Amino acid sequence: MNKINQLFNIKYPIIQGGMIWNSGYKLASAVSNAGGLGLIGAGSMYPEVLREHIQKCKKATDKPFGVNVPMLYPNIEEIIQIIIEEEVKIVFTSAGNPKTWTSYLKERGITVVHVVSSSKFALKAQEAGVDAVVAEGFEAGGHNGREETTTFTLIPMVKEQINIPLIAAGGIATGRGMLAAMVLGADGVQMGSRFAASFESSAHDNFKKTIIETKEGDTQLTLKELAPVRLIKNKFYNDIQELYSRCPSVEDLKALLGRARAKKGMFEGDLVEGELEIGQIAGLIHNVKSVESIIDEVIHEFQIVSKDIQDSRF
Ligand SMILES: Cc1cc2nc3c(=O)[nH]c(=O)nc-3n(C[C@H](O)[C@H](O)[C@H](O)COP(=O)(O)O)c2cc1C
Repeated sequence: MNKINQLFNIKYPIIQGGMIWNSGYKLASAVSNAGGLGLIGAGSMYPEVLREHIQKCKKATDKPFGVNVPMLYPNIEEIIQIIIEEEVKIVFTSAGNPKTWTSYLKERGITVVHVVSSSKFALKAQEAGVDAVVAEGFEAGGHNGREETTTFTLIPMVKEQINIPLIAAGGIATGRGMLAAMVLGADGVQMGSRFAASFESSAHDNFKKTIIETKEGDTQLTLKELAPVRLIKNKFYNDIQELYSRCPSVEDLKALLGRARAKKGMFEGDLVEGELEIGQIAGLIHNVKSVESIIDEVIHEFQIVSKDIQDSRF
């Protein structure tokens, strides 16, 4: 049996990445109902909003689901307490040290997965006692590693270092992509961008429309001095580039970023001044669809292409 299906008790080894301003209970429960693992993205929620989403998710699905917790966000202690009080069984941590919360969560019976962007940190996560690792390549949407290691190179390098289940992320939106990641050594995949352009994503329609118009080369990793993030090249991105041409200090960059840029872009639909986070694979996402059809198509293509490869073996 597939290790990821076994670990989470799910049908398909497809995880919906936690995504600020995109992954509320509607998206998470739809993914879980379709046989994958849905994650509520706590990173854009006040603690009580998170509690509400967890409670609604429990009502919307009887299948397993989890919460993604970016550890750099404020209110982390409160968020962890809510997760425990609400008896969430699965937590994906990201953007921080896996040692901080792993044993605390595991002692309370929670399955813990940590997101990394290098084999060095994958090993640290394994040492911290996590149940699985998400290795996320440079192509991915959202915050990202500084080293620019692509998924194609990262997965086999992480596989060489760890012996716990491995989930590949970054640049995967199709059955072909999923199969490729698993051939490289992953036990399952985490997809973000593809699910951001779904009916159930809580993002603004303007953002979803922009995702499907985004072509190869339209995104770039930037703001490495703060927290590296892959953005669509809109006016806000151009403002950052313009500031870089004047050798800015970290304080200058922080001042330009200001507050609530991601909310403005992805949730409120301001395509000019907002921060629009998406992965390179947006160039392959041509329509907004239901979660159910996304998962069905990925699995169908995965099966067809695996068979084609079997048939063309030499
Ligand atoms: C809009 C957006 C927001 C994201 N927010 C988060 C987040 O809050 N926490 C996190 O761990 N990862 C976040 N990610 C990363 C995803 O969980 C996932 O790992 C990534 O999207 C996978 O790469 P892909 O976009 O090529 O599918 C975000 C990605 C996107 C596109």
